[in-house]
Amino acid sequence: MKGNRSWVPGAVEMDWIESLAPPLSEALAAIEAAAAPDNIPIVDRDSGRVLVALAAGRRRIVEVGTAYGYSTLWLALGQPPDGSIVTIDPDTTRTDRARAWWRQAGIADERIRVVSARALEAFAAREPALEGPFDLAFIDALKPEYSAYLEALVPRLAPGALVVADNVLWSGRVANPSVDDDNTLALRAFDAVVLADPRFSATILPVGDGLLVAGFRG
Ligand SMILES: C[S@@+](CC[C@H](N)C(=O)[O-])C[C@H]1O[C@@H](n2cnc3c(N)ncnc32)[C@H](O)[C@@H]1O
Repeated sequence: MKGNRSWVPGAVEMDWIESLAPPLSEALAAIEAAAAPDNIPIVDRDSGRVLVALAAGRRRIVEVGTAYGYSTLWLALGQPPDGSIVTIDPDTTRTDRARAWWRQAGIADERIRVVSARALEAFAAREPALEGPFDLAFIDALKPEYSAYLEALVPRLAPGALVVADNVLWSGRVANPSVDDDNTLALRAFDAVVLADPRFSATILPVGDGLLVAGFRG
């Protein structure tokens, strides 16, 4: 066991891991190419490769924050073929484009349902598509609302479900105590609360912008 930090993985290791990974699908590459010039924040490809692994065997997935459907597609590609995803985003100009890329990837329309609403309003309105139990929940929308998304999701989780949240290291700002903008403070509090929450076994993977992974004890 390595008990110190004389060596930590870096860019060389990330490139080596990527070199071993299956080739990127054309649809995922197309989303990456479209998102950058449009300034659409999507998960890093390294995080996508974590999502596809975590989605294995997870039949029902709920996602908060769709955008161009990049993370949605990674999750769909990892699910069993009869899996389904409900993904929430009020911006239909983004989610309409996402649908075209999902079709390009061969994902049947009925596998991915878009709820075009603000997530907290949809949860409070008991939107039928958001009825649980879900096997995995992915959070990637408004940072100050992460804790509220989690509380809305908990009654909708199956025992053993995973909750995954992106941006929890926020480009190094969360672990830097001198940074105190609203998003950073919200993410810092979210991380601390979830990692101490007895309802979950949780940690943070230092991948991409930081991925919190929490197993729901049920
Ligand atoms: C970071 S992007 C999602 C990226 C996506 N998960 C990916 O990696 O491909 C955040 C999205 O949250 C959406 N959003 C903003 N407010 C929201 C809300 N109240 N509820 C749900 N989604 C919201 C935005 O429209 C935006 O598309």
